[in-house]
Amino acid sequence: MVLIGTATSVKEAIEIEKSGLDLVVVQGSEAGGHRGGFIHNGHKGLIGLMSLIPQVADNVKIPVIAAGGIMDGRGLSASICLGAQAVQMGTAFLTCIESGAHPVHKKSILNASDDETVVTRAFSGKWARGLVNPFIENMKEHEKNLPEFPFQNSLTQDIRKASNSQNNKDFMSLWSGQSPRLAKNQSVANLMESIISEVKHITC
Ligand SMILES: Cc1cc2nc3c(=O)[nH]c(=O)nc-3n(C[C@H](O)[C@H](O)[C@H](O)COP(=O)(O)O)c2cc1C
Repeated sequence: MVLIGTATSVKEAIEIEKSGLDLVVVQGSEAGGHRGGFIHNGHKGLIGLMSLIPQVADNVKIPVIAAGGIMDGRGLSASICLGAQAVQMGTAFLTCIESGAHPVHKKSILNASDDETVVTRAFSGKWARGLVNPFIENMKEHEKNLPEFPFQNSLTQDIRKASNSQNNKDFMSLWSGQSPRLAKNQSVANLMESIISEVKHITC
């Protein structure tokens, strides 16, 4: 069995290697969805992928998989240049035709700007990056006192469900990385083909 852990700092990547895992996903602050940290599991010390990849690559021997804001061949090539062996992409696949994400979620990402995401623990009790909406804004002043994951996640379950069934993005968890302007509503085959062809034309 191949085991992969997620690190958001060099310290976490070293711990993952020490624990005997085979590969490490290095998740930069740009990443959409839940933060995969276990030592630095907060909104503090959010480290960008460009800083994180080479520092992790210099400190571990296991292969590094880069994650966070990578949407196309440019992001993939840059990650490889910095010392990664592979990439993990979330948001780019979320807006694809085949994705089962809520249509309102997909549309929100496709219409979003780069400055519209925030890191919040309002939905689940665990820090995650998504498009800002009234629920996140209204909960901001209570954020310090919210219960930990998974309790907050259970507490917001009904409101998220109702929001989804009403197609109301104001209370949905609209997880997205920091590169929504690069998101496209295309088939996965198109996404993969364009990444491969872009990478062929980029030299690093
Ligand atoms: C909808 C969604 C849910 C996610 N949930 C988790 C999660 O539960 N745990 C985790 O470690 N990472 C989670 N992630 C983060 C991904 O594993 C990955 O690090 C991230 O998608 C990379 O950034 P990108 O979205 O900009 O490509 C999630 C990402 C998305 C888009």
